[in-house]
Amino acid sequence: MHTLHRIKAYLNHWLDAVDAHSLHSPFLYELYTQVIKQESLPDPAIEKLRKKLLNDHRMIAVDDLGAGSKHADSHQRLISEIAHHSLTTPAFASLYDRLATYFNARIIVELGTSLGITSLYLAREAERKVYTFEGSPALAEIATISFEFAGSNNITLIEGNIDQTLPYLLTGLPKVDMVFMDANHRYEPTVRYFELLVRRTHEHSLIIIDDIHDQAEMEKAWRTVQRHPLVYTTIDLFRCGLVFVNPALSKQHYAW
Ligand SMILES: C[S@@+](CC[C@H](N)C(=O)[O-])C[C@H]1O[C@@H](n2cnc3c(N)ncnc32)[C@H](O)[C@@H]1O
Repeated sequence: MHTLHRIKAYLNHWLDAVDAHSLHSPFLYELYTQVIKQESLPDPAIEKLRKKLLNDHRMIAVDDLGAGSKHADSHQRLISEIAHHSLTTPAFASLYDRLATYFNARIIVELGTSLGITSLYLAREAERKVYTFEGSPALAEIATISFEFAGSNNITLIEGNIDQTLPYLLTGLPKVDMVFMDANHRYEPTVRYFELLVRRTHEHSLIIIDDIHDQAEMEKAWRTVQRHPLVYTTIDLFRCGLVFVNPALSKQHYAW
């Protein structure tokens, strides 16, 4: 079901996709040519850590508070299997790092830490402060060890169900510059978390939503986000969606 859905979604995306020549807005042209289409340069130290996790065959108990894994029915999961199936790829993690640099993001929120690999990319520059949320104590523990191992002291991991932890954290935070939503891939929580987060953004903030075509519920959530009154331009990169809330941009949706 998921596979068929993804093939259909990919074909639609491919038919809608545009290239640099069709981009008349200087903002979008620059974003496309200087960030999105730039070569990915995965961080060697972070990738070494990913490799370690890919070869870690210890079993851990994971209570997934989200949509769960397509690749596991049991609560017992191998760390290697999580590293293989649940993490953002090096190319996209490196893109998120470039986006954070390009938009000069200082306060970054990541929903869904898992093993902490993408958090490390988001925290690559010391001036950034990353708040990352994870509901599974076993994953939070491994991620914390990864952050210590990598010497990152600009990441705060908030353990617990995002339903409770996100509203609490947001009340104490200044405006958020960048958000990476990669936790509960269901319609209702995605839209609810988006609603909370979008109200804490400023006009130059960027919200990234992962897996927008992964399943029908996420497609529906993506369409709801595109129609949101605070949302102007959106860009569908198939793997994820970029959301811009700057009223100076037109109300337009692109597929790249
Ligand atoms: C796809 S993984 C995150 C991957 C990570 N962002 C990366 O790219 O490396 C999703 C994570 O979100 C967590 N999660 C899902 N729903 C949650 C919730 N309601 N509260 C807290 N964590 C949640 C899961 O435990 C899982 O580890």
